[in-house]
Amino acid sequence: MMTMQEIRDHYRFSDDDAELLLSLQPLAEQQRERFSQEFYDYLYGLPETAAILNGANRPRLREMHTTWFMSLFSGTYDNHYLNHLTRIGHAHVKVGLNVHFVNAAMNQIRHFLLNLIDSSYEDREQRRKLREAVEKMLDINLDVMSSSYREEELKKVFLSRKVESFLIKATERFTYGLNLVLVLALAVVSIAIVTMFGWDIVHVFKGDVEKGVFTALGSLLILWMMIELLDNEIKSLKGGRFSILVFIGVVIVAIIREILISTLRHDDLKKQAFLAATLLILGIVYYLVSRVQKDLPKV
Ligand code: HEM
Repeated sequence: MMTMQEIRDHYRFSDDDAELLLSLQPLAEQQRERFSQEFYDYLYGLPETAAILNGANRPRLREMHTTWFMSLFSGTYDNHYLNHLTRIGHAHVKVGLNVHFVNAAMNQIRHFLLNLIDSSYEDREQRRKLREAVEKMLDINLDVMSSSYREEELKKVFLSRKVESFLIKATERFTYGLNLVLVLALAVVSIAIVTMFGWDIVHVFKGDVEKGVFTALGSLLILWMMIELLDNEIKSLKGGRFSILVFIGVVIVAIIREILISTLRHDDLKKQAFLAATLLILGIVYYLVSRVQKDLPKV
């Protein structure tokens, strides 16, 4: 935290500058109302600042801004003054005022004061000195006021950096871990399906040829879908896009297998019709989803 003396040194703001500002006090007092009027006309002229003013206690606010204007010419610029400036910055951050508008408003105030000096003082040298003193003080004000914004920003960055290294990374790892578990589970299920296929083949040799061939075909279909599913999951682990289509495909294949077995078992017509209807609906869903996916841009 800097002291007011340090800030004054950095801006080369001398006691003479303080005297010059003090000498402007009567003129400022005389122009007080005009300043207030022009400043508020400006603030009400911009939708963003007008919106902030509408939510505030207007007479009090106007009084605060006018008092600030007069305090520029008090002649005393010590740590007490610095505290006052710091408080202004925090007040603006609190009401959600974008620092951009503070800069823009300060630009307007600068023009107001420089024009005032130019039109009120005859002597060129005197005008130059007054202008320099005013410019320094306005810049000091802007500097301290905007540093509150930087402080707020630093706080935010610090917080989100902490959150990032802690929570986001942990969550990322967790989901990655879950995906790995899913791949492993899929692999285990695939092995089970291979075993099922082997069992079906045994059926063929045992004489139940028709049943064996059909169920083996069903198992092969499922195995094929499992390969698709695993492939898809690995692709998404490597950063590709996950395709929901594969899941619908798996269900379709499972239904087809069920239909195969159902016909072999000579199940009643109702059940077979139900399976056929489900297959039809799934087919339509598959078609619709594949159309939507085609329209999506490739990632
Ligand atoms: C150079 C520009 C500006 C200066 C020097 C300035 C000065 C001040 C001062 C001295 C206060 C009182 C702080 C306190 O003691 O609590 C204040 C508060 C406030 N200012 Fe400004 N202001 C400026 C620009 C703006 C702008 C552009 C807006 C936009 C609407 C604005 C809106 C407010 C509001 C809403 C408060 C009240 C905060 C509260 O209720 O605590 N100011 N300002």
